[in-house]
Amino acid sequence: MPDKYYIKTYGCQMNELDGSQMGRLLGKHGYQATQVPEEASVILINTCSIREKASHKVYSDVGRFRALKLRNPEVILGVTGCQAQAESAHLHKRFPYLDLVVGPDHTGRIPELIEKAKREGGQQVAAVKLERRDDYQFLNLLPDEAESAHQALVTIMKGCDNFCSFCIVPFVRGREVCRDAEEIVAEVRDLAERGTLEVTLLGQNVNSYGVGRHAADPNALSFAKLLRRLSRETAIQRIRFTTSHPKDLSEELIEEFRDNPKLAAHFHLPIQSGSDAVLKRMYRDYTREGYLEKIARLRQARADLAISTDVIVGFCGETDAEFQDTLDLLEELRYDSIYSFVYSERPKTTAAQHFADDVPLEVKQERLRRLQDLQNRITLEKNVEWVGKTAEVLVEGPSRQGTTYSGRSSQNHIVHFEGSEAEVGTLLKVKILRACSNSLIGEKDVG
Ligand code: SAH
Ligand code: SF4
Ligand code: F3S
Repeated sequence: MPDKYYIKTYGCQMNELDGSQMGRLLGKHGYQATQVPEEASVILINTCSIREKASHKVYSDVGRFRALKLRNPEVILGVTGCQAQAESAHLHKRFPYLDLVVGPDHTGRIPELIEKAKREGGQQVAAVKLERRDDYQFLNLLPDEAESAHQALVTIMKGCDNFCSFCIVPFVRGREVCRDAEEIVAEVRDLAERGTLEVTLLGQNVNSYGVGRHAADPNALSFAKLLRRLSRETAIQRIRFTTSHPKDLSEELIEEFRDNPKLAAHFHLPIQSGSDAVLKRMYRDYTREGYLEKIARLRQARADLAISTDVIVGFCGETDAEFQDTLDLLEELRYDSIYSFVYSERPKTTAAQHFADDVPLEVKQERLRRLQDLQNRITLEKNVEWVGKTAEVLVEGPSRQGTTYSGRSSQNHIVHFEGSEAEVGTLLKVKILRACSNSLIGEKDVG
């Protein structure tokens, strides 16, 4: 019986891809994946530290999985991901029985560190040197058979240099490093040849790809040119990307949306707050007006574009009037969907060191509720506008028992319709009949 591994991943798509890549590496070393931790001889908790709540999950997980290790001392238990980086020393001390504490930049060393832990015992701790950029190696590993064949995540850069005052990411993922364009094109080409229809390009700030001092190659492409190359030189049918920073969203990229039909009709552009004063305290480097202008130009360039965003409520010193500016912005801009969060102070950040986290928790929660109520209404109204229109859906699989299938539209809506197994992994035209708050319901458009 081959050894099995179980990986529990939290956090963003970058962490999801890291989790998959650790699995691919372990696969190459003879391990098999399992969804059942009790069967695994390697258990990895791939953590996120973006908000305090996310970071706490590791503590309960470690306790739970330790029970399995007590039953079978051969089990290797490790913490990987951003929390392993943020708290390597603390985790090491608090849980002396952990075999591995491995930060995100050391994902590629997982098999080697597991072997070492088995051989030598004791804890293997590997955390990132955050200033490093020149010698960073991206992993070149295609998905294995167990993963979805139709959609794939592709890293184009790692780290972040923006240091928004609230955000821990630059401290756990290190400096921005761009992956070589040739490598990205080759990976997308290989994926397309294997039948992948859609890729999502990943980075904390993909709009700054290739720009500035940190470009891996002095002749590096801009992000818009990278998109064009991928569209022209590979057979991939749909390209998504995440995440964008408004300050780096260029005119060239807006034009690419006008000209390149392979770009999915969805733009995720985190605003964080609708108040200029709050944006300034967040070190975001754009204004409400500048942001609105860019959205207007994007909508002009691509009329069917869906727009989504991230919002933080209750940031340090946020007044009622400043919060109202965010509500007004949502009314004015009419996003298709948003992700919204209560501000959570994170260690090492500028906000933690210099600003008071002075909005009471009840006020933060009340603001979050009001914001979400407002957006739920807008999202439903925007979804209702789809009734009678036709969406192009990449079919992902059965959504419930029976013959209902679901997939994602170009605009990133979840669409349910009567389908069949043969249609999984194809692009279908679906006529929208009904709208719900979180999804659309339609029928295959045969006309
Ligand atoms: N690179 C992306 C964001 C990555 S983190 C960008 O620049 O937009 C994803 C989202 O988590 C952020 O957009 C922000 O809305 C939220 N977030 C980050 N730090 C947070 C904190 N300390 N408290 C609450 N939400 C936070
Ligand atoms: Fe965090 Fe700002 Fe970087 Fe996004 S751009 S990861 S919010 S520091
Ligand atoms: Fe979380 Fe790290 Fe992503 S902190 S959001 S897993 S980059």
